[in-house]
Amino acid sequence: MKKGYFITFEGVDGCGKTTQLELLADYLRDIKDYCVIETREPGAKGLGQKIREILLNYDGEVSSQCETFLFLADRAQNIDTIVNPAVESGKIVLCDRHTDSTVAYQGYGRGLDIEEINMLNNIATRHRKPDLTIVFDIDVHTSMQRVGTQKDRMEAEGIEFFNSVRNGYLKLAEMEPNRIKVVDATRSIEEIHKDVTGLFEELVS
Ligand code: TYD
Repeated sequence: MKKGYFITFEGVDGCGKTTQLELLADYLRDIKDYCVIETREPGAKGLGQKIREILLNYDGEVSSQCETFLFLADRAQNIDTIVNPAVESGKIVLCDRHTDSTVAYQGYGRGLDIEEINMLNNIATRHRKPDLTIVFDIDVHTSMQRVGTQKDRMEAEGIEFFNSVRNGYLKLAEMEPNRIKVVDATRSIEEIHKDVTGLFEELVS
């Protein structure tokens, strides 16, 4: 059986990570003949989608602690029903956002305790760690322009919040340089894709 891999895509809203995930999935399936599973947090399917609707669209008060637990509940479902079964059967799982989003958004963005978030993330993931995490780094001004005026509950946060999130990702990358790789997401889609495939080849070589 082939070895499975778990790869996560991270960055501030509007960084282009979803486009890059789809391009890598196509490349791995069509050119490399891998079996690839695409998933996302929050809201891959079923129950997760219900949790996503609350997280992104609920217009009443949501405490930061409650928000964190909802992201974690969705993560537990994603890990148990999609990620772990696929990785354990030798597939490549590409996940749009994962644990580092909670550290960056709820930790660095909202100011919750990062040690506690790490602990809760470990419980939600049953201690599975991504083999590779790619952070698509972009200045917040450009990313906000890409998001446009139709914003969900999270995207409606201000520039200061997203600057803290971006800096959080960069700190995480400094702390875990073997797992987390930063790519410059202000370049063309093709140039970024080349970097992403290069990182994948490095991982499997
Ligand atoms: P995402 O699906 O990437 O949004 P988009 O529709 O822009 O592709 O992510 C949804 C939002 O949830 C995004 O603003 C980031 C936020 N988020 C957190 O705050 N914490 C988390 O743990 C996760 C997974 C996402």
